[in-house]
Amino acid sequence: MNTPNAVRSGDATRNPTLSELEEQAGKAQPAFGEHAHILCDNLVRIYKTEGVEVVALQGLDLLIEKGELIAIVGASGSGKSTLLNVLSGLDVPTAGLARVAGTDLLAMTGKDRLRYRRDVVGFIWQQTARNLLPYLTARENVRLPMRLAGKRARTEHADELLELLGVGYCADRKPDQMSGGEQQRVAIAVALSNSPEVILADEPTGELDSENSEQVFAALRRANRELGVTAVIVTHDALVSEQVDRTVGIRDGRTSSETLRRASAGGEIIAEEYAVLDRVGRLQLPRDFTNALAMERRVRLELERDHIGVWPDKPQPGDGE
Ligand SMILES: Nc1ncnc2c1ncn2[C@@H]1O[C@H](COP(=O)(O)OP(=O)(O)O)[C@@H](O)[C@H]1O
Ligand SMILES: [Mg+2]
Repeated sequence: MNTPNAVRSGDATRNPTLSELEEQAGKAQPAFGEHAHILCDNLVRIYKTEGVEVVALQGLDLLIEKGELIAIVGASGSGKSTLLNVLSGLDVPTAGLARVAGTDLLAMTGKDRLRYRRDVVGFIWQQTARNLLPYLTARENVRLPMRLAGKRARTEHADELLELLGVGYCADRKPDQMSGGEQQRVAIAVALSNSPEVILADEPTGELDSENSEQVFAALRRANRELGVTAVIVTHDALVSEQVDRTVGIRDGRTSSETLRRASAGGEIIAEEYAVLDRVGRLQLPRDFTNALAMERRVRLELERDHIGVWPDKPQPGDGE
């Protein structure tokens, strides 16, 4: 007779040993986000200034697969820049786990951090002036990170990247001879210069008009598609979040919602918004929902066959009070 946990050894069936059971248990539960390219697990970042504490990230969970292009949206002050600064290796979280392309961001030495920032991630700032050196041409700006990494700064590689992003014609221009959108596309080429695994952009189109924004976003999409680089873009731009497969909403330092876009059977694009359920079962109810039913502090939950009901904490008719 076969019990579910029985082990076949030769022809005889025997009960498993303790170490075999331990091994099975280990296999059955892969670690959270084990295969993700970017993993944030219960990430916390507290800023302390003059005795005041600001909790910018309050236990944020996020998983991003290799080669994904995602948008991050959220109100001002919700923690988007804090998250990107952590992922870029500029800032160190207070607690939690953050891992990018196999690198544990909380356990890096200073030397690891330099290497990480040089080889693993590329960053694009909102302020065009912060991305490029004003006295260098576009081509020289793109070659600079290769030189700083002690590599041979190949002109062809720089020109290929500028070409890919649609600004090949700007190679010999300095930043003040380019439009804001052209500068941001050159900035993407700079970020890609050392072939990073991930590019991070913090409101890269925030200072641009809609036509320039569209070109910058098209360039980010092309980099993602053609080079396979994972791309995380913080944006206010509704247009941007319409062009990605997944938009992650951040509220009060936590991921609160995800919008997924996919093609329906008929070929039209459908967007579906989900609330994020974290590993310990927490979710954020949208504020307009809770306001509409005056839900505060406490709600009543009921398990139904195929959903969970959420009711305001009010005396119910028939409760006998
Ligand atoms: N260096 C800092 N010192 C103190 N508080 C900060 C600092 N940076 C950000 N904060 C605070 O952390 C919160 C999140 O900020 P931020 O990540 O910049 O939000 P977002 O980019 O979504 O607008 C805000 O309340 C902000 O005031
Ligand atoms: Mg910000």
